Amino acid sequence: MTNQELYNAIFKRKSVRKYDMTPLSEEILDEIKSYVDNLMPLIDNIRYSISFLSEVDTKLLIPVKFAPHYICIYSEKKDGYLTNAGFLLQQIDLYLSARGIGSCWLGFFKPKKEVNTQNGLEFVILLAFGNPKESVHRKSISEFSRKSISEISLIKSAEKLLEPVRLAPSAINSQPWFFSGDLNEIIVSRQKLSKLKAPFVDRYNQIDIGIALYHLWLSLEHEGNAATFDFNCADAPEGYEFIVKVIAKEK
Ligand SMILES: Cc1cc2nc3c(=O)[nH]c(=O)nc-3n(C[C@H](O)[C@H](O)[C@H](O)COP(=O)(O)O)c2cc1C
Repeated sequence: MTNQELYNAIFKRKSVRKYDMTPLSEEILDEIKSYVDNLMPLIDNIRYSISFLSEVDTKLLIPVKFAPHYICIYSEKKDGYLTNAGFLLQQIDLYLSARGIGSCWLGFFKPKKEVNTQNGLEFVILLAFGNPKESVHRKSISEFSRKSISEISLIKSAEKLLEPVRLAPSAINSQPWFFSGDLNEIIVSRQKLSKLKAPFVDRYNQIDIGIALYHLWLSLEHEGNAATFDFNCADAPEGYEFIVKVIAKEK
């Protein structure tokens, strides 16, 4: 799978919520597993592991069989671990979509108790996947329900660069990201939470930022730029919290 194919998937992917419960073939599962073995982390020194499950629990106490397969990410709890997890699993979400396999991020599901931790790592989030029983792709950009570029960015002439980032999925479609700075040094921040919002939104929004950062990495790559991530604190616009400065350099 090339980065160009993953980039193309951004413009048509969607969450799939209806699945054929027949498991995928061992051959396809093995291909997915070897892709997963070579993911690129956002932050190098955070230990994580990924496991494949065929059964999970819901946090809502309603037993639901959602999909035939689930990919769970477990992580060491260090600064940025939620954002790192989002960055990692979004690589799989796009890979599956590019292959015509359905997937959906699930915040309200968790592994069964006995597999809730792995080698001392904490369960973070999971992605359901399998053969779709509904269309796996959108036919046009107009089918995405998203904020406009002007609502999420102050950067001049960044429409092309940020379009694939604007289309990133997020928990309850909250789209908490904001972009300022310039095309060479992009400041990525996230909306500060109002006191009214539940604490779980804070956790999911950190994952969302990781998802958007992977889309930004692919978009920079598509334009012939290499991205490096600088987590040293910088100013963010009023109402936003600084997350990372993304430095773009021509390759
Ligand atoms: C961190 C995260 C958690 C999510 N949790 C759920 C969930 O529990 N149930 C669900 O149906 N969709 C869930 N979603 C999917 C979002 O609702 C979806 O990505 C968003 O509405 C945008 O729609 P799209 O993915 O079809 O483009 C989640 C997405 C993310 C990124």
